[in-house]
Amino acid sequence: MARRRARVKSHVRNIDCVRGMAALPDSCVDLVVTDPPFAIGFAASRGNYNRTDSRVMRGYGEVRAKDYAEFTRSWMAQAHRVMSDDASMYVFSGWNNLRDVLAGLDEMGFTTVNHIVWKYQFGVFTKKKFVTSHYHCLYACKDPSKRRFYPSARFAAGERTADGRSARYRDMEDVWEIRREYWTGRKKTPTKLPRELVEKLLAYSSARGDLVMDPFLGSGQVAVVAALMGRAYVGFEVSREYCEFARRRLESGRYLP
Ligand SMILES: C[S@@+](CC[C@H](N)C(=O)[O-])C[C@H]1O[C@@H](n2cnc3c(N)ncnc32)[C@H](O)[C@@H]1O
Repeated sequence: MARRRARVKSHVRNIDCVRGMAALPDSCVDLVVTDPPFAIGFAASRGNYNRTDSRVMRGYGEVRAKDYAEFTRSWMAQAHRVMSDDASMYVFSGWNNLRDVLAGLDEMGFTTVNHIVWKYQFGVFTKKKFVTSHYHCLYACKDPSKRRFYPSARFAAGERTADGRSARYRDMEDVWEIRREYWTGRKKTPTKLPRELVEKLLAYSSARGDLVMDPFLGSGQVAVVAALMGRAYVGFEVSREYCEFARRRLESGRYLP
């Protein structure tokens, strides 16, 4: 399924993503997969999700809720410019500031294609309200008539699951139950997308040789999985330590060095 050679060489930069994207040529990116900060007062220093606090790397770049709409518009405007007409974009969001993400997509000229729900295996226990155990993933594109999608990328039309259902249909439903990864005993950034989730997005919406961009790299998950799947990558991260972490992973050529 090799399509073409990306016009931009694979790289990651320790820089604000709006400045980083400004240095890219128009229409060079084939797919954006990104998980921006959610503006919920997130701090890496807490022992989030029952982890050993000392292994969680500090330096997470959070955004203030009151700045979130403008922040979202500014990075989305650059993403729209650097995406090719047939490119797609997946943006993760919690529910708190989802309205800003939805408004940003509309205002910057994207078309929303699907609203995927990622259900993970646990949330933070609460006594007086329901436990949040999902994220939203907004699937958007620049030009719906040119958008590429590969429906047979993971399952052929006739393939069945163990319980006799169509494997392809099931895989293409818009609620995805995928487990978070723990990386027990390892140094880690405070949040990360699971490999399985990133692989799924890349399989359906990109081909070998495509350029995949993540403006908010964190641990580098999107770039690392893109490289392992034969895609080129570009990514930005404001935290020097996180960017170095991602770079070390990319240079090792392995998922976890
Ligand atoms: C939710 S995390 C991304 C996690 C990533 N998807 C992963 O799987 O590891 C968001 C990241 O965006 C970074 N960040 C915040 N503001 C930024 C900006 N203006 N430009 C680039 N990175 C930024 C944060 O430091 C944080 O690492």
